[in-house]
Amino acid sequence: MKRSFLLYWTSVLVLAVLSIESAPSSGCGKALPRNFSNGQTTSMEIPATNGQPVRHYKVHLSANFQNDRPHAIVFSFHGHNGTMAKQEDLSQFSEKGLLIGNAGIIAVYPQGKLGTDGEPAWQGAPYSDRRVDDILFVKTMISTLEGMFCVDSSRIYAAGKSNGGGFVNLLACTPSIASKIAAFATVSAAFYTTTFNGNCPTNRAIPILDFHGTADKVARYSGGPSHGGTLVAVETFRQGWASRNGCQGKPAISHLSRANDPQQLVEIRTWSKNCRAGSTVIGYKIKKGQHGWPRITLPARCNGITRKNDCTRSVFDATANVTIPFFNKYSL
Ligand SMILES: *[C@@H]1O[C@H](CO)[C@@H](O)[C@H](O)[C@H]1NC(C)=O
Ligand SMILES: *[C@@H]1O[C@H](CO)[C@@H](O)[C@H](O)[C@H]1NC(C)=O
Ligand SMILES: *[C@@H]1O[C@H](CO)[C@@H](O)[C@H](O)[C@H]1NC(C)=O
Repeated sequence: MKRSFLLYWTSVLVLAVLSIESAPSSGCGKALPRNFSNGQTTSMEIPATNGQPVRHYKVHLSANFQNDRPHAIVFSFHGHNGTMAKQEDLSQFSEKGLLIGNAGIIAVYPQGKLGTDGEPAWQGAPYSDRRVDDILFVKTMISTLEGMFCVDSSRIYAAGKSNGGGFVNLLACTPSIASKIAAFATVSAAFYTTTFNGNCPTNRAIPILDFHGTADKVARYSGGPSHGGTLVAVETFRQGWASRNGCQGKPAISHLSRANDPQQLVEIRTWSKNCRAGSTVIGYKIKKGQHGWPRITLPARCNGITRKNDCTRSVFDATANVTIPFFNKYSL
């Protein structure tokens, strides 16, 4: 009796020590499905079930992917009227060389369903289709990917733009899914007050990285009316997370180097003092920044022509230089 008790606790301890490194999923060691290969993007489908419609998403495996070692998953959610293909082009999580936990990543681009205005959208916006359960969709993608690939279940992350950023915040505010995601990034995000009836019933400290331009005319920095709803002001959103995470005091202010940002357009606000569980809240306030995803080059679909919003250039790369290193710092 005593001996088996001791054995039991020894094995629990061994498992706990192993899981500090990573949490390998059931897909580890399986052969890659035929239609997947390294450095490629493959379309996936979840059949309609339980009153939920068919769902689609794209999955990109890093160039150095090995299905016998655990890899992080990074979700990238498109904005209102966006598509999974455009989001891959815009957010660049399929770029070569991105490392989390010293391994290449599995980049996932989910497709939103058509909302009340006939344009793709995510749960929580005034124009999203209330019958669609996008949180269930994310849970199903995670369990599907964990079964097919060698996933490090302690390193799953979510990023999104505009309505997709608002949805990332909904994930962070929903304990049943937030408990599976290590850190969150929101870009030019639309945070509707109606998403949570004003509440964010989080039960853990959550690392949040947020980017927003002061010249964003779609999701204004100061918040206010939009699409029949109300957007939370960007600084209110950030302060809300800093408070929920127990961070104290005002954010520390820093800038990019003058070599990269001669006009010092980017102000970085970091809340890290006494935040619970080593969490931080970091906000990038980008002067002249429009409703885009900060990057140095234009997305391919802009055909080299600078226009507005997604077809604008920034002085920094939000994905490779900021979001990936931020995610890398956190695991569950
Ligand atoms: C690729 O393979 C997976 C797993 O077998 C399957 O679910 C998916 O539908 C396939 N995608 C395409 C485009 O054939
Ligand atoms: C939505 O996207 C489609 C396809 O890219 C485009 O033709 C349409 O103009 C967009 N709608 C709005 C309101 O921007
Ligand atoms: C991006 O990161 C690299 C490597 O850390 C650094 O050398 C470079 O200056 C950064 N670029 C920008 C624009 O921040």
